[in-house]
Amino acid sequence: MARISNLECTKCGEHMSAATPQTLCPKDGGSLYVRYDLQPLLGKFKKESLAGRVSSMWRYAEVLPDVPPVTLGEGLTPMLASRQYPHVWIKDEGLNPTGSFKARGLCAAVTMCKSYGIRKIAVPSAGNAASALAAYAAAAGLEAHIFMPKDVPLTNLIECTQYGAHVTLVDGLINDCAKAVNERKHAEGWFDVSTLKEPFRVEGKKTMGYEVAEQLNWKLPDAIVYPTGGGVGMIGMWKAFEEMEYLGWIGPERPKMIAVQAAGCAPITKAWAAHQPVSEPWHNATTVAAGLRVPKAYADYIILDILKKSGGAAVSATDEEILAAVYQWASGEGIFAAPEGAAALVAYQKLIASKFLKPSDSVVLFNTGSGIKYTEVFCNDLRSA
Ligand SMILES: Cc1ncc(COP(=O)(O)O)c(C=O)c1O
Ligand SMILES: [Zn+2]
Repeated sequence: MARISNLECTKCGEHMSAATPQTLCPKDGGSLYVRYDLQPLLGKFKKESLAGRVSSMWRYAEVLPDVPPVTLGEGLTPMLASRQYPHVWIKDEGLNPTGSFKARGLCAAVTMCKSYGIRKIAVPSAGNAASALAAYAAAAGLEAHIFMPKDVPLTNLIECTQYGAHVTLVDGLINDCAKAVNERKHAEGWFDVSTLKEPFRVEGKKTMGYEVAEQLNWKLPDAIVYPTGGGVGMIGMWKAFEEMEYLGWIGPERPKMIAVQAAGCAPITKAWAAHQPVSEPWHNATTVAAGLRVPKAYADYIILDILKKSGGAAVSATDEEILAAVYQWASGEGIFAAPEGAAALVAYQKLIASKFLKPSDSVVLFNTGSGIKYTEVFCNDLRSA
């Protein structure tokens, strides 16, 4: 196992101890990365070490916190060869517990909360992070306090209540939910596991980067398309590549990292097009891809930096394009994707059309969740047909 050596601010580089729970850098509010003492693992933790290990993200235990995991079998999701496009892979995160990739991050965050002795956890969420927190808190025997927009997908609301979480519906978006958590957390004694405001959700999500490498036989693809809201997955994968390079598992090459957003809420795409290092809050965010309704990502500076360093891009997809892509994947591949995930297919098609990507490029499209969670989106579609 690697020991966590410290937490490191992504803005000023300040080091902090992980012995007690931390949120943000006290100096500048920067998000914190978890740093491990990887040196003793060199030559000992090898790619071959993974053979025969558990079929979950905990197969990478050496690069995760060394505490007993609160696990529901998250991770090691299928990497499916597309039946429609040669050289395209679909990483199907819809098969995770609670039907989305959010399981990975919340599994790691709840695991750490439990080991720190935290009893009450709060999260503002667009929906899927809430379901995941509720499930892992139930598994850990902890209290979950959840704040979601009042028009959150119904399945998310049902899941949270069945998992026994305390749910507050907010008249607004995820940033309004974050304000509500902020106002109450000190008085209530809640630990806030908001996106990029605690360090361990990134640790869970980074396992997607390890899986991409392992499942493609240690040759990273030319590009990865990732539906971006708060950006935890993109940031986590990028961190994983850095760790894997240090371990000698991959070389210095990196995939082009491509963020896809919904046209009705595309602050990162807009900032990228304007060559800005940070984004402006998006007004009147609206899209069927509920998880992409993030008007301002807290760690936008990290996302935009990754896009730049990787030679990537940011694109947006309209709801109409997204719904057509859901149908194309479901009817043509047998994969019923969340609208957020299907946006990755739209981005791929646009980047092939613009010649940013070549048909011969190997590309991983992240389907971040299951379409089954969005019944009302498709009911409406059915009724208006
Ligand atoms: C299905 C789905 N895809 C993508 C996202 C965006 O994820 P991230 O915040 O990691 O960028 C979300 C967020 O809620 C989601 O639920
Ligand atoms: Zn700092």
